[in-house]
Amino acid sequence: MRIEERFFQLAENLIILGPPGAGKGTQAVRIADRLGIQHISTGDLLREAVSEGTELGNKAEEFMNKGLLVPDEVILGMISDRLSGDASGGWILDGFPRTLAQAEALSSLLEEKEIELEKVILIDVDPDLLVKRLTGRRVCDSCGAVYNVATLPEDTKKCEKCGGKLITRDDDTEETVRQRLEVYRKQTSPVIDFYEETGLLVSIDGNSGIEDITSNVMEELA
Ligand code: AP5
Repeated sequence: MRIEERFFQLAENLIILGPPGAGKGTQAVRIADRLGIQHISTGDLLREAVSEGTELGNKAEEFMNKGLLVPDEVILGMISDRLSGDASGGWILDGFPRTLAQAEALSSLLEEKEIELEKVILIDVDPDLLVKRLTGRRVCDSCGAVYNVATLPEDTKKCEKCGGKLITRDDDTEETVRQRLEVYRKQTSPVIDFYEETGLLVSIDGNSGIEDITSNVMEELA
C-alpha cells in the first residue's frame, strides 16, 4: 500500500446506532461537521429516492410507511455504491447497519476495501421519550433540517435556515413510530451485541440536551 493510501486509512470512520428518535441524525450532523467527515444516512438516501420516484424509492416507500425495514439487498447495494465513491475522508453511518446481516456484510465490505472502522456510538435513550420526540419532530422539506415542537417557537411553519416548509415525516405517526420501535427491538438489537463483541462500541447517555451529548461523544472520540 502506498503511503498516501495508508494516510487515508487513518480517517475517522464511525457508526451511530440507537432506536428511532434517539437523536442519531441530530448528532451525526454535528459530529460530521466537527470532524470534517461525511454523514451517510440510509434513511435520508431512501427518502431522496422516494421523492425522486426512482425504482428503488418506489420499492422502499411501502416498507418505510409501514415502519418496516427495507430489504437488506436494497440497502446493501446502496451502501456499497456510496462507500465505493469518494468516502476516503471518513464517514459516519447513520441508520445502517440495522440487521445482523447488514452488520456482517459491512464488515466484509470494509475488509475487502481495507477500511478500518474506528468506533460505534450507541445513543441510549429512555424508551418513554422516543414516541414524544418522534411525533413532535418537524423537518424542513427543502434542506432537511430537523426541529421539534418542544423547542420551536409556537406557530413556526418555516425553516430558520432556508425558509423551507416544516413538515411531519410520513412515518412519524404514533402508530408507525410504535411499529418502528418494535422492529428496532427485534431486528436491530442484535447489532448492538455484534459490535460489543468487537470492542468498538461506546454507549452514550442520550437523555440529556443535544449540546451535552455531542460533547460526550467528542470526548469518547478524542
Ligand atoms: P431513519 O431515517 O434511519 O429513521 P430512524 O432510525 O427511525 O431514526 P430517526 O430518523 O427517526 O431518528 P433519529 O435517531 O435520527 O432522531 P433525530 O435526530 O431525528 O429510517 C427511516 C426508515 O427507512 C426506516 O424505518 C426503514 O424503513 C428505512 N431504513 C433506513 N435505513 C435502513 C436500513 N439500514 N435497513 C432497512 N431499512 C432502512 O431526533 C428525533 C427528534 O428528537 C427530533 O425532533 C430532534 O430535534 C429531537 N431530539 C434529538 N436529540 C434530542 C435531545 N437530546 N433532546 C431532546 N430532543 C432531541
